[in-house]
Amino acid sequence: MIHEMQVAIFDLDGVIVDTAKYHFLAWKRLANSLGFDFSEADNERLKGVSRMRSLEILLEIGGLSLDDAAKARLTDQKNDWYVESISRLDRSEILPGATEYLQRLLGRGIKTAIGSASKNTPLILDRLGITQLFDVVIDGNSVSKAKPDPEVFLQAADALHIAPEYCVVFEDAEAGIEAARRAGMGSVGIGSPGTLKDADVVVAGLWQLVLLG
Ligand code: BG6
Ligand code: MG
Repeated sequence: MIHEMQVAIFDLDGVIVDTAKYHFLAWKRLANSLGFDFSEADNERLKGVSRMRSLEILLEIGGLSLDDAAKARLTDQKNDWYVESISRLDRSEILPGATEYLQRLLGRGIKTAIGSASKNTPLILDRLGITQLFDVVIDGNSVSKAKPDPEVFLQAADALHIAPEYCVVFEDAEAGIEAARRAGMGSVGIGSPGTLKDADVVVAGLWQLVLLG
């Protein structure tokens, strides 16, 4: 049975704000500093995935194996570069249609949530002045299991006291679409249908949903 959406859960990076490119650039810089290259195609595997798990995938691509202390130093280094980029973020980097779509949902009485793996979520929302557009924010600071585990989305549904089948997840990452499916939620892929094959619906950006009304 198909249920009408009562809660819209948004991934942050690559759905609401154009930060996915800064994650990519910081990982690429780290890979280059370790002596190997890292392509945009490789980067698809890191989208939606936690910081430490992302490093492990990156090291696998480079054929390197390091101890925990070295891995912690490298994730700190990547995050320093990333935070340096996002400290200059401004509202022009909110993705097209995101603010309009969120306002439209709130006007219709639909609850909104962030469900992101990023520990930098509060910093980004604050910098862009959009924290108040979300009824609930669940991020990498409150979850213990990374996407594709459904924990982040289930926590959002729980916080809003709504059953998963009334929630729809908006995601640009394959891992996030898989997490939505495992949570028993509908999914809207943001990006290309070729990459987000398992999403219920795929659009190029939230602006397309604004167009549809
Ligand atoms: C996700 C991004 O939203 O957050 C990943 O898609 C990123 O690329 C992950 O690794 C963790 O983010 P952060 O900011 O905590 O390093
Ligand atoms: Mg994302």
